[in-house]
Amino acid sequence: MSDLKYVRVEWDQDLAVVTVDRAEKMNALNGDVIAELGTVFQDLAEDGDLRGVILTGAGERAFVAGADIGELATMDAMTGVQVSRQGQRVFSLIERFPRPVLAAVGGYALGGGCELALACHIRVASENARFGLPEVGLGIIPGYGGTVRLARLVGLGRAIEMTLTGEMITAERAESLGLVSRVVPREDLLSEATALLRKVTANGPVAVSKALESVYHALDVALADALTYESSLFGLMASTEDMKEGMTAFLEKRKPDFRGR
Ligand code: COA
Repeated sequence: MSDLKYVRVEWDQDLAVVTVDRAEKMNALNGDVIAELGTVFQDLAEDGDLRGVILTGAGERAFVAGADIGELATMDAMTGVQVSRQGQRVFSLIERFPRPVLAAVGGYALGGGCELALACHIRVASENARFGLPEVGLGIIPGYGGTVRLARLVGLGRAIEMTLTGEMITAERAESLGLVSRVVPREDLLSEATALLRKVTANGPVAVSKALESVYHALDVALADALTYESSLFGLMASTEDMKEGMTAFLEKRKPDFRGR
């Protein structure tokens, strides 16, 4: 991952902190940023020691202020489809990432930035965060999953209102809609995000991964198939050392020491 220009990866023990770092452009997503995010998440998926990821933006003012409008302005119909598909591929990689990914949103999360946060499993926002899908004001529609994932998270009516008005909402409103899990002071964003993610990663790593898999699988299939899939994964847990350790630790009244196996 040494050739990265716009995405930084830092380690906090077994957590990776991935930062979109193009602060002079409010971390706007040009093609290179999207490609680098893809590379980073592909590489991280191979890391057996990793337990979770925090995704954030550099600087105090923006998580990500959208796709790069300068780049989008030059697209034609064919490249437009390609740009959208490429972003969707990378965001789906994040959504289906086998470890929990938490978006720490410290400022504007607009357009592609809002869509990026939506592709993460959990969202924590700072008080100054602002969310919105302003694309219609530019004469386009959200193309990185925004017309799909927002409705699933906050409900159809609210998603349609946000998508069609293009208006920004505050962090407080985002919390009331269920778009973010919690709102914290800007200076506490990373520490609160880390504390929340550590609550997750203190649990059995295989169980956390398979719970995520079951939840997202269920979005794609009929109820009966989703339930069958859940049962298969549930049964699979019995083959893990983590299950043995988790239950033994409970019975022995001690904290479990999970190994992720
Ligand atoms: N694409 C490209 N550049 C962007 C950008 C984007 N999505 N968002 C911000 N920038 C750039 C600005 O052009 C400016 O660059 P410059 O200094 O070279 O002129 C820089 O980031 C700072 O932004 P600026 O607009 O001066 O800051 P602001 O505080 O006045 O406003 C925003 C901040 C986020 C409200 C405003 O930049 C904005 O509306 N951005 C576009 C959001 C959007 O529509 N996103 C969806 C895109 S599909």
